[in-house]
Amino acid sequence: MTDDAPNDPQDAIDSQGERRREELDDRIFEHSAGDEQEGIPFVGAGPGNPRLLTVAGKELLEEADLVVHAGSLVNSELLDEYCGHAELVNSVGKDLEELIPLMRDAYEDGDNVVRLHSGDPAIYGAALEQMDALEHEGVPTHFVPGVTSAFAASATLRTQLTLNEVSNHVAFTRPQGKTLTPEEDHISDFVEMGDVTTCIYLGTHAVRDTMDRLLEDDHDPETPVAVIYHASWPDEDVIVGSIGDIADKVEEAGYRASALVVIGDAVTGAGYERSFLYGDWANRGSSENSAETEASDD
Ligand SMILES: C[S@@+](CC[C@H](N)C(=O)[O-])C[C@H]1O[C@@H](n2cnc3c(N)ncnc32)[C@H](O)[C@@H]1O
Repeated sequence: MTDDAPNDPQDAIDSQGERRREELDDRIFEHSAGDEQEGIPFVGAGPGNPRLLTVAGKELLEEADLVVHAGSLVNSELLDEYCGHAELVNSVGKDLEELIPLMRDAYEDGDNVVRLHSGDPAIYGAALEQMDALEHEGVPTHFVPGVTSAFAASATLRTQLTLNEVSNHVAFTRPQGKTLTPEEDHISDFVEMGDVTTCIYLGTHAVRDTMDRLLEDDHDPETPVAVIYHASWPDEDVIVGSIGDIADKVEEAGYRASALVVIGDAVTGAGYERSFLYGDWANRGSSENSAETEASDD
């Protein structure tokens, strides 16, 4: 298709969804993540430090003629380092009606096109709607995963998001606002569970409101909270506190965006117990051991 404007992106999303409901895409069984595939790759740039880009992502960027990137959340150092000859387009402020023909036309002209998202495209990336719109117009697409900012934050904090006897689960979430209604905001529910590490994306501007709601819901004000601004960037900053005092600290630092908020005891990395993996289970019979290892893997 070579129309200047794409079909209505919502029609494309609906029709791709319908197709997905009816049958699984053959490519699911033909390719694994990281394989070379035809079409436009939706690449995770990682959290910021260019060294945290995957090898597959780096190779694709080096070959690219057009890179459509996620603006300020993608480190310009990474673009300078790896997008040698590519035309760079910032997607911020552009709607699907503009982005889809741009990528489609370049691809149909024979260019290598890369869509570069921050972190991992599958986490708050709005990637699938672009992929569906492109696929609907006959342009194949695929994901190339990246390091999501929660993983960079946990590495910076020198802790694990799951820790034996401290945190058995991880929630990737966002606070209520324009996108989520108060009923869809589950931060308080996750904190209530006690053994969940709650990683809040898109919530830097709302730290005070979020903490106020947690206090209203009677959560322990001493519960550890860390706010990691620009994890893995040269100006990375780590603010550590609790539900009771983190809002003051974040306001004092002046951050309103680009930080990850982590709530839960795993923030400190204190109080955990040795895992089964390197305890008694390690000394079991070998066949039993491998089955158990797969089941626990911690
Ligand atoms: C639109 S979401 C994109 C998330 C991205 N896909 C990922 O996997 O990290 C943007 C939010 O991710 C978080 N974020 C992205 N990069 C970050 C970084 N380097 N450090 C801390 N938080 C980051 C912030 O909460 C920001 O508001």
